[in-house]
Amino acid sequence: MMSGKIKFAVVGCGHIGKRHAEMVHRNEECELVALVDVKDQSQLGIEQYQDVPFFNSLEDFLASGIETDVVNIATPNGFHFDQAHKVIASGKHVVVEKPMALNKQNAEKLIFEALHKHKHIFAVMQNRYSPPSVWLKELLESGKLGKIFMVQINCYWNRDDRYYKPESWHGKGDLDGGTLFTQFSHFIDLMYWYFGDITNIQAKFADFNHKDLTDFEDSGFISFDFVDGGMGSLNYSTSVWDKNLESSITVIAENGSVKVGGQYMNEVEHCHIKDYEMPELAPTNPGNDYGAYKGSAANHHYVIENIADVLNGRAPISTNALEGLKVVDIIERIYALKEGDKK
Ligand SMILES: NC(=O)c1ccc[n+]([C@@H]2O[C@H](COP(=O)([O-])OP(=O)(O)OC[C@H]3O[C@@H](n4cnc5c(N)ncnc54)[C@H](O)[C@@H]3O)[C@@H](O)[C@H]2O)c1
Repeated sequence: MMSGKIKFAVVGCGHIGKRHAEMVHRNEECELVALVDVKDQSQLGIEQYQDVPFFNSLEDFLASGIETDVVNIATPNGFHFDQAHKVIASGKHVVVEKPMALNKQNAEKLIFEALHKHKHIFAVMQNRYSPPSVWLKELLESGKLGKIFMVQINCYWNRDDRYYKPESWHGKGDLDGGTLFTQFSHFIDLMYWYFGDITNIQAKFADFNHKDLTDFEDSGFISFDFVDGGMGSLNYSTSVWDKNLESSITVIAENGSVKVGGQYMNEVEHCHIKDYEMPELAPTNPGNDYGAYKGSAANHHYVIENIADVLNGRAPISTNALEGLKVVDIIERIYALKEGDKK
C-alpha cells in the first residue's frame, strides 16, 4: 500500500509521453514529479508542467535523487530495454510503452531484474480496455463459442512519407524494430490474450512502397496454429493508400462466428452465436491522434488507474511483464522467418 500520492516520472515527452504525463496529472492518487527528454524543454509543448523538474537524460534524473515510485518509459522502442533496466536497477517500478523490448532476451533480462528487485513492470496494451475487447475476452472465456476453428487478423493501415520522416525514429531498424513491433503489436497482444501462444509459424513478407522510407518490410502474410487448438492467420500491411483501412479479427468457432473490426478493433461488426444475444456495448474512446493517424484506443487513463490499483493492493496488473515478453517473443519468431532484411 502506498502512503500518499504515487510519484511518477515520464521519460520521453513526445506524442505518447505527454499523454502519460496528462493522465498522471489528472489522477487524484498520482503526482508527476519529473519529466525527461533529450530535446530542449521549450520544444516539447509541456509548458503546463513548468513546476515539474525537467531533465535531459534518464541518468541525470536518476542521479537527482528525486523521490519517485514509478517511471514511465515513452521513448523510441530501441531505448525501452536499456532505460527500463536502469529504472528497475534503481529500485523503482517501471511502465514500459509497447513493445517492452526489441528481443526476447532483453525482455527476459528485464523480468529477471524486476524479480530480483521486487519491482513491478507494467506493459502498456491499452486496446485491451476497449469495450469490444473486454466483451470478446469474456465471450471466449465463457466457452459459449465452443472449439475455436479459425482466427483471422487483418491489419491494413496507411503509413507513408507523412509518417516516416527522415528525422524520425520511425522506420529505423534499431530504434523502431519493424512494422509488427511499432504498428501491430497491440493486435498481437490481443491475439495472445484471447487465444494464447502460437506454433508452426509460416510467413511471407513484402515491401511494396516503403523501400525508400523504412529499413524493413511493409507487409506480411503469417499463418500458424494455436497451441490450445485452431489455426490462425495474421495479414498486415502499412502500404494502404492514403488512410487506414481496418484492424479486424474474425473468429470461426464450433458454435458461432464473430468479427470485430474498425480501425483498431473497436467495433463489433458481426456476432452470430448459438443461444446467444449480443449485449449493448459502451462506445469505444476515439483513437489516439497521431497527426493524421489513428492507431490505438485513447485508453491511457486506464493504464495509470491500473497502476494506482496495483500499488494500492486493489487489483492485479492488467498487462504484466510476461505478457509483454510473449508479444516480443511471437514477433521475434515471426521475423526469424525473414530471409534477410532488405538493406
Ligand atoms: N500505446 C500506444 O498506443 C502507443 C502509441 C504510440 C506510440 N507508442 C509508443 O510510445 C513510444 C514513443 O512514441 P511516440 O509516438 O510518443 O514518439 P515521439 O517521437 O513522439 O516521442 C519520443 C520522445 O522521446 C524523446 N527521446 C528520444 N530519445 C530519448 C532518450 N534517450 N531519453 C529521453 N527521451 C528521449 C524524443 O525527443 C521524443 O520527444 C514508442 O515506443 C511507441 O511505440 C505507444
